[in-house]
Amino acid sequence: MGRFVPLSIPNFEGNERKYVDDAIEQGWVSTGGAYINKLEKSLAQFLHTDNVAACQSGTAALHLAMVEAGIKPGDVVLVPPLTFIAAVNPVKYQFATPVFIDCDDSFCMDATKLQDFCQQECAFDGKQLTYKGNPVKAVVIVHVFGNMADMTALMSIAHKYNLKVIEDATEALGTKYMDGPLASKYAGTIGDFGCYSFNGNKIITTGGGGAVTANDTKVVDHIRYLSTQAKDDVHYYIHNEVGYNYRMTNLQAALGVAQLEELPEFIRRKQKNYKLYCQLFDGFELGHMIGFRSDIDSNMWFYSLEINRDKVKATMKEIITKLEEKGVQTRAIWGLINEQLPYIHEITYKLEKAPYYAERILNIPSSTQITEEEIHYVAENIKKVLEESIGVDIE
Ligand SMILES: Cc1ncc(COP(=O)(O)O)c(C=O)c1O
Repeated sequence: MGRFVPLSIPNFEGNERKYVDDAIEQGWVSTGGAYINKLEKSLAQFLHTDNVAACQSGTAALHLAMVEAGIKPGDVVLVPPLTFIAAVNPVKYQFATPVFIDCDDSFCMDATKLQDFCQQECAFDGKQLTYKGNPVKAVVIVHVFGNMADMTALMSIAHKYNLKVIEDATEALGTKYMDGPLASKYAGTIGDFGCYSFNGNKIITTGGGGAVTANDTKVVDHIRYLSTQAKDDVHYYIHNEVGYNYRMTNLQAALGVAQLEELPEFIRRKQKNYKLYCQLFDGFELGHMIGFRSDIDSNMWFYSLEINRDKVKATMKEIITKLEEKGVQTRAIWGLINEQLPYIHEITYKLEKAPYYAERILNIPSSTQITEEEIHYVAENIKKVLEESIGVDIE
């Protein structure tokens, strides 16, 4: 077997097995058990927030936030085009309409374009923003790859137009502002709702899992209630609302408690490895590392290399295949959501940066276990493949 450097794999160097064994021994494997409460408390403490509801996935977290935000059929929700589709699908689950707003150079929503859309394309009566007669109720802001969106500007626009803010912090657990009015605030704790994911590729994992927090602790309690089939009486099966089977299981939470213990170390490694990549690509003409905002402490979850398209003509697929042959696993950034079949007829607003980056970003290996030697190997081979492909089809 030749060398293989994976894109992103989970890291179980801590108490994972011990806690999962313990949950099994106790017989608490489903949606009840001490690890779920422990994970919720530890996460709330870590994020400096009052209340967190643990659930089955980041998608479930986003869906519950959408339900709790009161998104109804026909409402409009402003969303990003350049992210994982799970950030937008819950809008459709509610039979609402997404409108795609462009990103800026952080890949997160462009505040100026959001403001322009609200001001120029919508009507506002002082209470309710409407677009073509339909209420614009919320905005989904994704903190892409561990970076942070410009939350000061975005929150001020949201306040002005009475929009609920759903932060998709699935990729940014642990990212926080260091300076400015939001100093020490964590991604996901600034808007009305914050959603996290513990999928296998995230900075911590529970296999599959997620969590929601909100700026109102009662709202989180209600989300938890909805996630457990809206049980009003556990013994006599009384349900006063339509609920969901979205609660995290104790087995997942056992993993999560162990992973959360390791989060600071994982962030330290991500930051250190990112720095090394930056050094290795410094001055390289055919590609450069995308940065993170300077006023944040980022978890640096995922690394992006922007390919110089003036020089490199090979397609992403060709580049990725060549690297795969050398044992380096990479991937293209997502296809634009507005170009996916379920969304091709939806409205987009001034998309420029999103299509620009969709063609240029290569995500490179970023596991916490990657060694310095492997990072050197990855950088060397990416450089080789890009150099070989200047102006030519590399097949
Ligand atoms: C931006 C974004 N939103 C939502 C999700 C959905 O999370 P999950 O896979 O836990 O449902 C993910 C990751 O998978 C994501 O990257």
